[in-house]
This record gives sequence, structure tokens and C-alpha cells, in this order.
Amino acid sequence: MLPYLIAPSILSADFARLGEEVTKVLAAGADVVHFDVMDNHYVPNLTIGPMVCQALRKFGITAPIDVHLMVEPVDALVPQFAKAGASIITFHPEASKHIDRTLQLIKENGCQAGLVFNPGTPLSYLDYVLDKVDVILLMSVNPGFGGQAFIPATLNKLAAARQLIKQSGLPIRLEIDGGVTVDNIAEIAAAGADMFVAGSAIFNSPDYAATIEAMRANLAK
Ligand code: DX5
Ligand code: ZN
Repeated sequence: MLPYLIAPSILSADFARLGEEVTKVLAAGADVVHFDVMDNHYVPNLTIGPMVCQALRKFGITAPIDVHLMVEPVDALVPQFAKAGASIITFHPEASKHIDRTLQLIKENGCQAGLVFNPGTPLSYLDYVLDKVDVILLMSVNPGFGGQAFIPATLNKLAAARQLIKQSGLPIRLEIDGGVTVDNIAEIAAAGADMFVAGSAIFNSPDYAATIEAMRANLAK
């Protein structure tokens, strides 16, 4: 297992003060910035693009930026996000006609690459590309909105994904996204996740550091 990473989703941050919010959450102990890109096509919501990623880099954010692309098509945005400072780029396999090509494109652009699985998307998309992914991201809500409840069936899926990673012997990250809270993070880790996205649980809390510390304390139990 790789060390645990906490990745606040800026979807629930105050967008009018984004640079300060990201600075604050990193100072509060976050490891990675989770950056949700929605196109009102693949998902019924519209958020932010490469310009905002670049603006965060210009603002002085040096932490890894984990770009979660909920867009269709995918490929045109890959070089743009790489140029804008993305560290990891993940996409939903059913949104790309050529999964292998998109994974290669991400790597050629110098980023880590990952596939994202909606609650109803089978892990079999990994069958022939497992050696090309750095990250497997399981959605524990249907994508498009923050603040939804964790879907419990994801726990079994996490265990299955963890098994695949173990069998492969590869250092693949297992990221979970949606409905992660202080109260359920330990159970999610026990099922196999090692990277935890949390939006509303962190940004809607009064004290980001206390929330992240409470998450880490529950992970250490
Ligand atoms: C949903 C996004 C998530 C979302 C998580 O489509 O991918 O990253 O912001 O928000 P919470 O943690 O509030 O479920
Ligand atoms: Zn996300």
C-alpha cells in the first residue's frame, strides 16, 4: 500500500477566493488538490477549465493538482491541462473512444494517468490497460455534484480493485471520490482506498485543519 493521501475537492470551495482557499486547505494538511472539470455534456454541470488550473499555479500553488475530467470528448483537453500545471489527469473510459490512446497522451504530456469508474461502470475497462494506469479512481457517487451520500456498494468494488492492483504488483493508486467524511473514511480505507477525495466534508467544515486531522486520526486507527 502507498501512503494515504487526502485530496480536497475544490468543487466545494469558495470560487470567489479560490487561491486563498487552496492555500488554506494545503496549510491545513491536505496532500493533493482535486480539481473537478465538468462540461455540461458528460455530466449535467459546468465548472472550471485549464485557465483556472494555470491561475492556481501562478498564484503559487505547488502541491500536486489531480485533474478529474468529467468531459466528453477527452483528448483535446489533455495537453491544455498538462500545460496549465496538472500533475495527474483522470478520465472516464466511456467518454473516450480510444482509452489506450488517451492514457498514452496523458503520459506523453508528462502527467500521471488514471481511469475513473462511475458506480455503474465495470472494472473490466482495466483489463488491457492496467499497466498504463497510475491511478484507479472509483466514484462513490454519480458524478456531477458535491455533497451526495456515499454509495455503500463501492466498498466491494474497492476491494475488487485493490485485489487487481495487488495481483499486478504495480504501484497503482486507488482513489475514492464522493461522500467521503470523517466518519466513513476508516471503512473506506479498510476496503482498499489509499487516496481520499473530500469536498463538502472539508470545505463546509468550520476548521479545515481539524477536519483533515480527524480524517488522519481515523485512518491511523
Ligand atoms: C463529483 C466530484 C467530486 C465531488 C466530491 O462529481 O467528482 O470530486 O466534488 O464532493 P463530496 O466530497 O462533497 O462528495
Ligand atoms: Zn472528482
